[in-house]
Amino acid sequence: MASIPNGNGNGNGNSNVGLQPDLPRRTYQAVVAATRDMGISKDGKMPWNLPSDLKFFQEITTTTSDSGKKNAVVMGRKTWESIPPEKRPLSGRLNVVLTRSGSFDIATAENVVICGSLSSAMELLAASPYCLSIEKVFLTGGGEIFREALNAPGCEAVHITEIEERIECDTFIPQIDTSMFQPWYSYFPLVEDNIRYSFTTFVRVRNSALESLSQNTHSDFDNSSDSRKFEVQKFSFLPKMIFERHEEYKYLRLVQEIISEGTTKDDRTGTGTLSKFGCQYFGVGLLKSFSGLSVVQQVLSISLTDREEGDLGPVYGFQWRHFDLVPGDFIHVIGDAHVYRNHVRPLQEQLQNHPKPFPILKINPKKKDIDSFVAADFNLIGYDPHQKIEMKMAV
Ligand SMILES: NC(=O)c1ccc[n+]([C@@H]2O[C@H](COP(=O)([O-])OP(=O)(O)OC[C@H]3O[C@@H](n4cnc5c(N)ncnc54)[C@H](OP(=O)(O)O)[C@@H]3O)[C@@H](O)[C@H]2O)c1
Repeated sequence: MASIPNGNGNGNGNSNVGLQPDLPRRTYQAVVAATRDMGISKDGKMPWNLPSDLKFFQEITTTTSDSGKKNAVVMGRKTWESIPPEKRPLSGRLNVVLTRSGSFDIATAENVVICGSLSSAMELLAASPYCLSIEKVFLTGGGEIFREALNAPGCEAVHITEIEERIECDTFIPQIDTSMFQPWYSYFPLVEDNIRYSFTTFVRVRNSALESLSQNTHSDFDNSSDSRKFEVQKFSFLPKMIFERHEEYKYLRLVQEIISEGTTKDDRTGTGTLSKFGCQYFGVGLLKSFSGLSVVQQVLSISLTDREEGDLGPVYGFQWRHFDLVPGDFIHVIGDAHVYRNHVRPLQEQLQNHPKPFPILKINPKKKDIDSFVAADFNLIGYDPHQKIEMKMAV
């Protein structure tokens, strides 16, 4: 077992007493599974059994881009104790256990470090030898640790498994503060153990709620303030498996595929297109329900069999309003995905743009009738589009 870096050097762990103020500290990413009301456990364990979630946890916390390095998992003493003895320390990762008790000891020689405070752990990991050997730092719970650190400035991303059921819990964590965090990606929901859940990653886009307040003095639709702009490269700290899952990459990859492999076709406008048929990749939970924000996921089930061939019937808004809509998932199947020839060049320009975190759309939860919505019932937060790219309309 490594020494006990507790910030005050006397082994009894407490807090930041005696810490040198300007020691560099590592930032970290939180990984957590939580119910809708942010419950994370009951009676010392997680009251669900979700194999794909365990696999996700194992993969995200273990994978490194540099095979010569490892990641660190930082956890509270009670979370450490909740891991079955034969499974701890978590293999392939440096296990950092936080305790204020100087007498707490772990009879394991390798891969375990005990720290007396979160800040001393982050300082330790920023110093030699760990600054060289540890690639990423993941904060893995439990409740007490997340309550202190989930929305704290050192947290640069939260990978949350959102359990879409109410399951009784006795340990809770705070909601993710969406004035500071915005979604990077959200994975299509899975069902295991009769529990529906999905993976979402939030990235920090502002340092404090104060910064967000000052930005909100601009209209939510006014993007002229430079301080709102995301520096996209900033998010490449995310694990590759998360960074590349941003939904916009699916669109960009499809555009790339159509441009490089599409079949040349004539079209009704005479412009000519490049086409790919039968693309079915958009299994996207477009709009989500999170933190009490009301948002919708829908399956469109549209029967067109009662119309004559060539008659699509009233389209778009009318369909959404008049067909049977059941809350569910939005699946987009594209019959003929095509690019007009005169759009190839501007699209190549678009392919150079990197995705940014998604904005958050808040919809007035008091409105229940779709026809009663007015513009003021929608609040779009953190929308930071790329510069306009002009494309001539094919007519
Ligand atoms: N759903 C999930 O994703 C998830 C993830 C992880 C854990 N969990 C669950 O969460 C439960 C444990 O959570 P919990 O809140 O009871 O305990 P915890 O946060 O895991 O551990 C609390 C202990 O950590 C130490 N500690 C906390 N803050 C500290 C600090 N700032 N500096 C130094 N030491 C600190 C203290 O240890 P001492 O008492 O030794 O001083 C404290 O008693 C378990 O049931 C586990 O299964 C769920």
